[in-house]
Parts: sequence; structure tokens; C-alpha cells
Amino acid sequence: MIISLYLIVFCMCAFYLHFVYRNWQYLKFAWQVKNGFWYPVLPLVGTSYISLLSGSKNIISLMQWIDKIKGFPFNLWYGDTYMYITKDPKEVKTIVNHPKCVNKAPLYDKFRFIFEHSIILVQDETWRKQRKHFVMGFKSSILKNNIYIYYNHSCQLVEDLKSVKMPKDIFRYCDRYAVQSFFLGNTGISQYLSSNEVEKVGDVILDIQDLIKSLVVTPFLSPKLFLTYFPAGKKVTKMLQEAKEIVRYGIGHKKNLLKEQSEYLENGKDLLELCLDYGKDDLDDNKIIQQVELFASAASDTAGHTLAFTFVLLGMHQEIQEKVYEEVMEVVGDKDITHQDLPNLKYTEAVICETLRLFPIIPTLGRRCDEDINLGTKIIPKGSSCIISIFHVQRDPKYWPDPLKFDPSRFLPENQSKINQFSWIGFSAGLRDCLGKAQGLAMIKVTVANVVRNFKIASDHKSIEEFTLTSCLTMTPKENLDCRFSAREKL
Ligand code: HEM
Ligand SMILES: *[C@@H]1O[C@H](CO)[C@@H](O)[C@H](O)[C@H]1NC(C)=O
Ligand SMILES: *[C@@H]1O[C@H](CO)[C@@H](O)[C@H](O)[C@H]1NC(C)=O
Repeated sequence: MIISLYLIVFCMCAFYLHFVYRNWQYLKFAWQVKNGFWYPVLPLVGTSYISLLSGSKNIISLMQWIDKIKGFPFNLWYGDTYMYITKDPKEVKTIVNHPKCVNKAPLYDKFRFIFEHSIILVQDETWRKQRKHFVMGFKSSILKNNIYIYYNHSCQLVEDLKSVKMPKDIFRYCDRYAVQSFFLGNTGISQYLSSNEVEKVGDVILDIQDLIKSLVVTPFLSPKLFLTYFPAGKKVTKMLQEAKEIVRYGIGHKKNLLKEQSEYLENGKDLLELCLDYGKDDLDDNKIIQQVELFASAASDTAGHTLAFTFVLLGMHQEIQEKVYEEVMEVVGDKDITHQDLPNLKYTEAVICETLRLFPIIPTLGRRCDEDINLGTKIIPKGSSCIISIFHVQRDPKYWPDPLKFDPSRFLPENQSKINQFSWIGFSAGLRDCLGKAQGLAMIKVTVANVVRNFKIASDHKSIEEFTLTSCLTMTPKENLDCRFSAREKL
């Protein structure tokens, strides 16, 4: 009895020593980081037990909790993977521009079951090839062409808001809108789908997000187990299947259309055509579908959430809303909003940038170091993950005076030189930044301008500290936010 107990203890010690031996270089590095060994690391589970300690079931609230008690930078372990968490713009600059730091951190593996073959997760040469290919879908000639589509959709939104007035869940409401606006503009797919089906794809994308939250913080739960045995997982599997069928149907239509028309190229190819082209080489249909789903997903809740936060913040800051209104009336007046107007809507753009500063919809980035990376004051060993908390970079008082104040004037042209490089990274930065930055900004700008021109927005929230945030891939408030629209009397 006693002997077997000794044996067990001995084995555990040996296992731990082996773990320490194998991870010696990471432990040594972690020791040099200011907040070093505060959380003991355990083999297999790393430091994921602190999500239990802190009661935070998601990345953003965990980061906020650690920031409050320890500050940046700090160490975490995701299973056996060492992660260095930073909010220093100088380090951000090195990481995002380093050619040996373009691959995603193991933290993203949880999403492999949906996005494995898509541009967001592919690695090295495959990524370089895809990036070069899909950049063509974001040329400025295509963007110019899409502004009309965005404007058209924003008019439908204005009509809809006249009767809705107070969306029950402003986030979901805006997400749906973004799915529809972008699906038509960027993939061309929704022309072949009924509005019901487009809505369904939108809902599927949004529901999957909700359901996989629990997957991210628990490294020991494999997606396969989750998808096959857990009720929530089974639901995800079913929804993924449905979404796939719909996308397959849209792709079928498109293929036929392309066969009939030999020359459909006017302003360049839309994203779906690019996905199909890519399929000719080395993507089977399933891989095309993953690619389409990624674009649909990258273009829906990111832009949708940004719109929702913008509306709420404008509702909370009436003077700022009036300035947007005045600008829109001066630049556009009552006519249609066109691509020529966009560069002149400077204050409107500043409002969107400031919203994204306070609420970066994707709050963290994670990269894998494929060689030792010199961060200036320290050399982070090969095999570690670098995690950038966009959220904390953008609220750092060192770079943003009075960081919790909603002050769009920070982004006015005359003030932009004061902004520290790499302290505003809501669209990421460097080699693997957001491909849809210009599209996203344009769509949001057109929509905000058109909505503010037609409505007064109101919200009862007093300060942004009231919002409890939660994140999976993207960040949302935990509770519904108050946001109301009442028709403006035209001057
Ligand atoms: C407000 C809107 C948006 C925000 C805040 C945003 C933000 C981001 C961020 C932070 C990343 C980096 C993710 C990472 O490294 O883990 C990213 C990547 C990406 N985004 Fe966006 N995005 C937005 C809209 C869009 C739109 C409209 C599209 C396309 C139609 C798009 C397509 C992509 C793609 C393809 C990537 C992956 C690029 C690569 O890995 O090479 N995004 N986005
Ligand atoms: C938007 O486009 C559709 C189809 O081209 C058209 O029927 C509709 O009238 C347009 N809506 C607005 C508000 O321009
Ligand atoms: C930005 O510039 C304006 C003047 O154009 C000034 O009033 C404002 O205080 C500046 N804001 C910041 C944050 O620098």
C-alpha cells in the first residue's frame, strides 16, 4: 500500500521533472518576464486552471482579470505551449512584421475543424500563395464598385429601422445586416439564395460562435469529442452541415453561370470566383466551402459588431453624433452616398476608428515563433507563442491619454501624427493583417452616415466601463445594450 503510494508520488515527480527538463528554455525565458512564475505551470493543462480561479470563461475577461492584479507582460501556458502576452507597440511591430512569425499560435487550433484549409489558418507557403491570390478580391476597383451595393443595403436598413426602432439585440441585428451586405458585395453568392437562406447562413455563423466559446479555454476538450458527444457540439455539427449545403448550392449556381458567360470580368473577380479559381489547383469542393465560410464569417460579425458598438457610443455621446450629422449633411446632403464622398467623411471615419480603439472586435492576436525572435530587450525562444492583446494595447494610458474617454478627435488628420505606430491595430498589422480593412471601413462608413442622416440615436448607458465583455473569436458585451433609433426631422 505505502509502497504503491511512494511509487505514484515518484512517478509524478519524475513526470514533472521531465516536463521541466523538456521546457527548460521556455521556463528560463518566462522567469525573466516581469511577472514570471506567479502561476505554476502543470504538465498537460498548463495554466488553464486559472480560468477556474478567475471565473472567466473567455479570453478577454481572463486578460482583464490578470491585467488588474498583475499587469503586462505576463506568461501563460496553453497546455504544453508557452505563451508570452504583450501589449508593447514596439514588440507588436517586431512580431507582426517577422517572416518567421506568420503562422498562427496553437491557441487557434480549436477552430481547425471549421477553418483548417482557409486563409486564416493555413501556414507558410500555402498561406503566401493564398494571400497573393485573394488580395485580388480586394482591389480598389472592386471596392469602388461595391460602394453602391453597401449604400443600397444601408437604405434597406434605414427602412427597416423605421419600424424596428429599438432592436432587441443590437449586435445580432447589425451582424445580420453585415452578412447580407457583405455576402452580396464580396462573394456574389446571395444573388442565388433566397433572403431566408442568406439569413440562415448568417444565423449559423453567429450560433456557431456562441457554441464554441467553451472550447477555447479548455485545451483538454478536443473538438472531435465536443462535436460528436456534447449536445452543444452536436448542434454545431448539424448547423455546419446546413451551412455547407447552402454554400454548395450557391457555388453550383455560380459555376453554371461562369460556364455560360465566358467573359464576366468587368471590375475583377469577386471572392467566390477567386475561391472557385483556387479550387482548380488544389482545393476540392469542401475546401472551397471552408474558404467561403471563412470570408462570410470574417466579414459578418466583425463589421456587424463594430457597427453595433458605433451606434451605442453615438447614442451615449449626443454632441459627437451631432458632429457626424453635420458632416454628413455638409458632404452628402440628401443625395445618394457614393465612393467620392467617402474620403470627405473624415469625422465619421474618426468615430469608427475610435470605436475600434475602445472595442477591437478581435481583441487578441496569436502567432507562433518559428525561430528565436529578438524582441529588443529579450529573445523569445522558438516554439513559443506570442499573444498580442489588441484590447490592452489600445487602452494603454502611455499611448492614449485618458484612454477610456470616447474622443474621435484623436483620429482627425491633424492629430494622426500623434498616434504611436502600432498602438492602433484593430485590423491587425504587418504581413498578415486584415485583407478586408478597406472594404469593412467603407461599408461601416456608408452605413453609419446613412443611419445618422435619418435617425437620432439614443442610449441610456453612462460609461463604457459598464459593459462586461466576453470573447470567442470576436468580442461582444455580455448583456444586451440599449440602443434606440428615432426618425430625424429633416431641416
Ligand atoms: C470591422 C471589420 C473588421 C475587423 C475589425 C477585422 C479584423 C481583422 C483582424 C484583427 C485580423 C487578423 C486576425 C489574426 O491574425 O488572427 C483579420 C484578418 C482577416 N480579415 Fe478582417 N476584419 C474586418 C473585416 C473584414 C472583412 C470585411 C473581410 C473580408 C471580406 C475580412 C477578411 C479578413 C481575412 C481574409 C483575414 C486573414 C488574413 C490572413 O490571414 O492573411 N475582414 N481581420
Ligand atoms: C437596391 O437594389 C435592388 C436590386 O438591384 C433594387 O430593386 C432596389 O430598389 C434597390 N434599393 C434601393 C433603396 O436603392
Ligand atoms: C485634435 O485636434 C483638434 C484641433 O483640430 C484639437 O481641438 C483636439 O484637442 C485634438 N485632440 C487630440 C486628442 O489631440
